[in-house]
Amino acid sequence: MLEFVLMRSIIITGAGSGIGRATALACAKRGDQVVALDINGATAETTAHTCRSLGANALGITCDVRDEVQVRDAFAQSAEKFGPVWGVFANAGIDDGGAIHELPLERWNNTLSINLTGIFLCCKYGLQQMIEAGIRGSVVCSASPCGLVALPVGGMGAYSATKGGISALVRCMAVDYASRGIRVNAIVPGATETGMLWNNVTPPEIERMRAQLNREIPLGRIGQPDDVAKAVIWLLSDESAYVTGSQLVCDGGVLAKASISI
Ligand SMILES: NC(=O)c1ccc[n+]([C@@H]2O[C@H](COP(=O)([O-])OP(=O)(O)OC[C@H]3O[C@@H](n4cnc5c(N)ncnc54)[C@H](O)[C@@H]3O)[C@@H](O)[C@H]2O)c1
Repeated sequence: MLEFVLMRSIIITGAGSGIGRATALACAKRGDQVVALDINGATAETTAHTCRSLGANALGITCDVRDEVQVRDAFAQSAEKFGPVWGVFANAGIDDGGAIHELPLERWNNTLSINLTGIFLCCKYGLQQMIEAGIRGSVVCSASPCGLVALPVGGMGAYSATKGGISALVRCMAVDYASRGIRVNAIVPGATETGMLWNNVTPPEIERMRAQLNREIPLGRIGQPDDVAKAVIWLLSDESAYVTGSQLVCDGGVLAKASISI
């Protein structure tokens, strides 16, 4: 039990790749116990294996965040192994959609169920453990600039609606759980070099788009998963003890820039 108190356990969804994986490794390096959840169980286990090779206690669990039973069971498995959770990074998401006038309801529902309901479910079971154990923990949710402004690429309605929903949910949870000392914040990554960034781009277009992004981002480069992980780690630490309800933008300056050049 003493070990549970001394070592913080952090549950990360979408931990099999990209930002989730980078955050899991950063948590492992600072001595946390890491529970890596992903719908792709093999990648979750690979992340957990790498965390263990860095000296951390870690567990990889197959979990589809759309499914309440799977989320409930994964959080229970985590508590059984490492004690009640101290930090949750609700991060799993997909970038799917299309023009609203031709978007099938099924695809709209699927995007909402992963990106928004999945975040709700992970927050629900994480908050339950923190409240029950009296833990003054930290919850971080992956939002997006798309939840705050419309990106000109088009077809982003479903994705953007989920991300705007996450930003609103974070503000409400921050206020609702502040009296218990539980902090809730959103991370707002800009264009970050992960599989998701290029999912909807044809291979010949990738280099052209990469060069254009590097030109247009004020800091002159696309973000790396580690850039975002460092910001998440800060939100998951006591260094941000007075920060709750924030939308921490980690985008190289894009949101700060006016879109019209004169
Ligand atoms: N990469 C970017 O440019 C960018 C920008 C803004 C926001 N984000 C957000 O960051 C988060 C992480 O994205 P990423 O860029 O690391 O993408 P990624 O595709 O590398 O990682 C997403 C992970 O989520 C997992 N996942 C998908 N559906 C799932 C489900 N139903 N249950 C459990 N896991 C599931 C995938 O298997 C994958 O490992 C997402 O919420 C995304 O919207 C990314």
